[in-house]
Amino acid sequence: MSKITLPPTSTMMSKSFVYGVATASFQIEGGIEDRLPCIWDTFCQTAGKIADGSNGEVACDHYNKWFEDIELIESIGVDAYRLSISWPRVIDKEGQLNQAGVDFYIQILDELNRRNIKPFVTLYHWDLPQHIEDTGGWLNRKTAYLYADYADKISKAFGDRVYSYATFNEPFCSAFLGYEIGVHAPGKTGRQNGRQAAHHILLAHGLGMQVLQKNSPDSKNGIVLNFTPCYPKSNSDADLQATDYADQYINQWYIKPIFDKAYPKIFDLLPENEKPVIEAGDFDIIAQPLDYIGINYYTRLTYSAPQVEGEFYHEHEHLYPRTDIGWEIYPQALTDLLTSLAKRYPLPPIYITENGAAIADTIENGEVVDTDRINYYQSHLNAVDSAIEQGVNVQGYFAWSLMDNFEWAEGYLKRFGITYVDYQSQERTLKHSGIAYQQLIKSRS
Ligand code: FCB
Repeated sequence: MSKITLPPTSTMMSKSFVYGVATASFQIEGGIEDRLPCIWDTFCQTAGKIADGSNGEVACDHYNKWFEDIELIESIGVDAYRLSISWPRVIDKEGQLNQAGVDFYIQILDELNRRNIKPFVTLYHWDLPQHIEDTGGWLNRKTAYLYADYADKISKAFGDRVYSYATFNEPFCSAFLGYEIGVHAPGKTGRQNGRQAAHHILLAHGLGMQVLQKNSPDSKNGIVLNFTPCYPKSNSDADLQATDYADQYINQWYIKPIFDKAYPKIFDLLPENEKPVIEAGDFDIIAQPLDYIGINYYTRLTYSAPQVEGEFYHEHEHLYPRTDIGWEIYPQALTDLLTSLAKRYPLPPIYITENGAAIADTIENGEVVDTDRINYYQSHLNAVDSAIEQGVNVQGYFAWSLMDNFEWAEGYLKRFGITYVDYQSQERTLKHSGIAYQQLIKSRS
């Protein structure tokens, strides 16, 4: 069986380096009868939005199988578990705590702590309550204040049970995929919508950080951002310029305000009617000091000069080799990303909060031989190791995902788990990649 190895002298072989697995509420929980509807429930009901026409009604039935899932997490030997809280499960329509929903998570947090597994809690992994979307969702500035109130109530209810909070998972995906190109919930389109949603999410992040630092000063509080590093098709000036614009628009847009209190300079090139409305003082709220930054990385993209009037860049199809979801496998970009971000911004400690691969797994005689996923993890762990060697302060790494789950617009067709889920029987089987990850973790000194 293939192994994952790192040099014995690597920082990543020390027990202080945090290894974890990650999931998100909507992708695994099910249990929808006990919570309010969210924008993903609605999106799933919209014809043509989800590749296999599926939804989150049952998912991995984690709502009922949470205890067994924690036993699985412990058996892998990880130091930490990154989960997200379903806002519509814990806050009712009047904005008050729904105690049954809160208790669902408290029992999980208590069980994790009892087993010395650090809970990394993400407060928003895309499942906005539908009734808030009905009043404008992230296009409405008031949503940022509703979010701050949710963060306040839930962090008080959780007390000291949480090791680390993330205000948001991947604002790029919520804003750009959800409100600008419409391939994710709530399926809105238009540049102004995308930019406005992003601004309100960043504002909510800043307000949320203020709340967390007050209510939970001992936890590590931060945000999780995703990056798709941009590479030029050629070294022509036009391709280099386009690539820089793409990077500003899809990556730097979400991090620069947090550290530099400003959007990247491409902001000035947008027509007035496509710019977000920003109020005085917003950047001071957004740029709260962070205890850590979470970075999610899966792939890179390549760019050349725009082919359409009014565009800033032309984005190319993914190069090969690709994973089953069509994303190029290019570990070098993870090293480049980490070293370049560390040069550009005064970063706090970094956790790689997601990294992993979709592979078309099959289960045979109770085993899943997912060698391609093992190779993906090996090359990307090496890439992190190499960034650390170059002086970047990375303190942890989370595999996406603990188990196969609802992969958003792809439904259940794409498997990202290090555990195989049989959606008929809900049986879980640790894949060879899970065993390799387990062995790596156990071999630390
Ligand atoms: C990330 C999401 C996560 C998962 C992976 C594959 O963008 O944060 O929920 O779907 O992609």
